[in-house]
Amino acid sequence: MPLMQWDAALDIGVEAMNEDHREILDVMNQIHDAHGRGQSGAVINLLVANLAEVCSAHFADEEAYMARIGYPGLASHKIIHQHLLGEYAKHAEAIKANGGRANDEFFGFLRRWLVAHIKGIDAKYGAHAKGAKLRA
Ligand SMILES: [Fe+2]
Ligand SMILES: [Fe+2]
Repeated sequence: MPLMQWDAALDIGVEAMNEDHREILDVMNQIHDAHGRGQSGAVINLLVANLAEVCSAHFADEEAYMARIGYPGLASHKIIHQHLLGEYAKHAEAIKANGGRANDEFFGFLRRWLVAHIKGIDAKYGAHAKGAKLRA
């Protein structure tokens, strides 16, 4: 069973970033599926490490995009990304220490991160991008 499905409420109005978010969701679901199917700890650890890479690449892209559109909230958004990566690394370490076994706390963190960050934080630069386009 997937952890989360994409839905229109996650659309921030910037297609390139929506694409990244879908990819992140996909990798989260891969971890959740592998966990549900009882895959080995080594597989889970690899998938968890992959999600960290996908997320940090996305954050870098997103920050570059926000800079391009002159988004005034860039500095604080960057701090939030750093914080998320730090939290993620703690979860990843705990999973590793537990022999590659993920738990509900981790999946709860992923779900909250996805919903709260995309809808609450990313949506703000999406709204700014829309305004910038209208002014252009
Ligand atoms: Fe973000
Ligand atoms: Fe994002």
